[in-house]
Amino acid sequence: MPRLDGKHILVGVTGGIAAYKAAYLVREFMKAGADVKVMMTEAAARFVAPLTFSALSRNPVFTDLWTVNQSSESDISTQHIDLANWADVLVIAPASANTIAKLTHGLSDNTVTVVALASARPVVLAPAMDAEMYLNSITQKNLAVLKERGYFVLPAPSGELASGLRGPGRLPEVEAIVQAVAAILDHAHRDFQKKKILVTAGPTYEAIDPVRFIGNRSSGKMGFAIAHAAAQRGAEVILIAGPVHLETPRNVKRIDVESADDMLQAVRANAKKSDVIVMAAAVADFTPVRKEKNKIKKEGGGAPLDLRLLPTKDILKMLDTKKRKAVVVGFALETANEIENAKKKLKSKNLDLIVLNVYNQKNRVFGSDVNTVTLIDRTGGNKTFEKLSKFDAAHRILDTVKTFL
Ligand code: CTP
Repeated sequence: MPRLDGKHILVGVTGGIAAYKAAYLVREFMKAGADVKVMMTEAAARFVAPLTFSALSRNPVFTDLWTVNQSSESDISTQHIDLANWADVLVIAPASANTIAKLTHGLSDNTVTVVALASARPVVLAPAMDAEMYLNSITQKNLAVLKERGYFVLPAPSGELASGLRGPGRLPEVEAIVQAVAAILDHAHRDFQKKKILVTAGPTYEAIDPVRFIGNRSSGKMGFAIAHAAAQRGAEVILIAGPVHLETPRNVKRIDVESADDMLQAVRANAKKSDVIVMAAAVADFTPVRKEKNKIKKEGGGAPLDLRLLPTKDILKMLDTKKRKAVVVGFALETANEIENAKKKLKSKNLDLIVLNVYNQKNRVFGSDVNTVTLIDRTGGNKTFEKLSKFDAAHRILDTVKTFL
């Protein structure tokens, strides 16, 4: 079992049969050396008495918003904020379908949900419920939204459920939750505190007329993962996003743009105050010379339509000034002569680091949650990682960025 000495772990217990397993979880956190506080919903307190948790955690248990905990120094109006700030991590186990739905929509009608909403620290959800509820598309959609926003959602394993049915929805094993929390805390060492990071993500759309545009297949997931990982490590993050269908990660300021030119303006406005600039966006290289005011009509007789395209301004090149103080990271997507081409880009755009994505049958990077990246830095360092989740790849990229700060 990993050690968690001195870590402040706030456990939120919500209503479900698996609430009794949260007692074992609290015991394991304590054994690992953590300071543990527990809060419970009213429903949870119907399954297990708060006394069990106060005895195990050796701390008072928080069960409602309207009673100030006797041994707490907070007053009633700030108790939830103080609890949120006390924690290094918030672990909601079991997370019921109802709590998951409330978190998705920002409802905060009990201690667990209000503290989750007030918290800027990592939140880990260990869902547990009957398979029908877990697999219901509403619950799955809610979990997907929370994951995109940066909540850590542990998968609920399959097996025998309290209803007697078999299927997914069991609370993950206590050991698995402790391991996951330790790994998350390991990433959350806030080594980017006070650093300002600007990240661009997604495609850009170049208008042909009011209806049509030229775009590309970038999903934005890699850039969003970098923004999320940097925020988790304590950075102040501005995320400039092209048109994507992604939720904003927690603790990230997002600016939405559409075209390459919009992105250029937004980067220009924010670059000076940044310590790190990560250009993960797939900026269009060409834009129509003319953006037609009205929708282009089909000519009869099948005549071809000529579209004249102009190269867009290169944002990374615009950043290449003598006065530049930021660490600048570019991306390269290559299909042939990958390393050689990436090195050329690193040089021609005067980057500190380039992240090479190879696009082929094995690494279909667009829209995927995993990626194989090679990092090439200006000192000639060159490292290829095995296939990683985009979030883990983001942390590896930040580890390298840190060496240049
Ligand atoms: N980029 C940029 N401004 C542009 C186009 C690209 O800042 N107008 C950035 C991207 O965000 C990425 C890097 O440049 O970080 C590499 O982009 P890419 O399009 O692969 O490189 P190009 O130099 O355009 O070369 P090519 O398209 O020929 O591969």
